[in-house]
Amino acid sequence: MDNTELAQSLKDWAELSQEYAGLQDLHKKYLIKLQEALALQRKCVAGVNHQRYRLKATDKLLKHVRATNDEENAEKSDLDKDILRRKAQLSQMEDSLPRPSGRYLNIILGGINVSILDKKAKYDYKDQYERFKLIVNLVGCVLACISLYFNMRVFDLMFMFLTVWYYCTLTIRESILKVNGSRIKGWWRLHHFISTFAGGVLLIWPDGEVYLSFRNQLMWFNVYLAFLQYLQFAYQRGVLYRLRSLGERNDMDITIDGFHSWMWKGLGFLLPFLYAGYIFQLYNAYVLFHLTYHPQYTWQVPCLCLVFTVLGLGNIITTSLTIPLKISEHRKGLLKLRFTRLDKYFWTHRKRRDSEAVNNKKYLEDVERILRPATDTLVESSSSSSMDEDTSENIKDIPGPKKNN
Ligand code: COA
Repeated sequence: MDNTELAQSLKDWAELSQEYAGLQDLHKKYLIKLQEALALQRKCVAGVNHQRYRLKATDKLLKHVRATNDEENAEKSDLDKDILRRKAQLSQMEDSLPRPSGRYLNIILGGINVSILDKKAKYDYKDQYERFKLIVNLVGCVLACISLYFNMRVFDLMFMFLTVWYYCTLTIRESILKVNGSRIKGWWRLHHFISTFAGGVLLIWPDGEVYLSFRNQLMWFNVYLAFLQYLQFAYQRGVLYRLRSLGERNDMDITIDGFHSWMWKGLGFLLPFLYAGYIFQLYNAYVLFHLTYHPQYTWQVPCLCLVFTVLGLGNIITTSLTIPLKISEHRKGLLKLRFTRLDKYFWTHRKRRDSEAVNNKKYLEDVERILRPATDTLVESSSSSSMDEDTSENIKDIPGPKKNN
């Protein structure tokens, strides 16, 4: 190395050191902001927990109320609606707050936090999950076709190994989705745990006459599953795309109606294929049941028979319950509530009460009389509630609701 190179190196180092000093300041600022953000995060989590705790108590109390006249009835129903709205608003807040991972994720991943706090990243994760399911099912479909064509045990085993790995991975991804606010029903998660088990049983089912008499049917069933998965992918993608745009627009009524009409059309198309799949599943169970009379049957046969029966019946029940549940959600306007603006403060019954008061002064006096001690008691109970001291401390810092009516 000659002197010019040394001089250049020293000059570079001096420049770099200057830049590093700037970076150090920036990092210090970042650490301070990070601490502030974490402290705010803890306060918000405590605040949401506190709101939920009090809402539960109010909800419980309201259930015992017996309205004696029309005004009280209207008060009660308005308060019910406000509680629903508040719950939806709290859920929205929780979307940007960390949530505990749950026992299953803690066991397999360790104590890391899997909360996704960014809305776009959340949609992207769900989108990747749907794409993952489609791709693996298509690979499975190709493997099943190869298996059917070549009739070679090695392809069967490859397919079954893929099944075990796929469902195992799904359970992890779904648990992460659940932590991040997905409303996926418990049955679908259980379904994927049971399917992992079924894949394991298939993998160790010994080759032989009994296995071979069921094998082709199993492979055709898997081809049909891949087709179903494609239809579900198209539906879920459509739902996701629409929900994403709903969250970004303001003219809610129009888009929510549009969303519902699209969803019912999608479901109307999908459901017959789903039910055909469930009948196929029950038919698998029926064939396996008959195979238990075969002299060479092994324990895998009755076991898989039970698994297919449970899966078929569970799927039929859950999918059939989805429809009435969706109708009731639609009636209650729950989807609209999901996109309620966080800064919108609801006190609908107060508005109505004010207008009633113009005609009925005694009614207003009665309500005010009820509200006064109730408010006092609530303030007292909030400080002596079951929250720990830390939580109560945090709550004091949370600004009160803005009454803008
Ligand atoms: N697997 C994983 N997630 C599912 C799911 C499934 N089978 N069914 C619904 N979900 C998710 C939805 O994506 C949604 O997630 P989000 O809260 O993150 O947005 C949440 O659960 C709530 O869904 P919901 O509104 O109840 O239903 P939907 O309109 O999204 O879907 C069906 C309804 C019936 C189309 C859907 O449940 C389905 O495809 N079921 C059939 C699955 C099946 O039978 N598989 C086996 C074939 S043999």
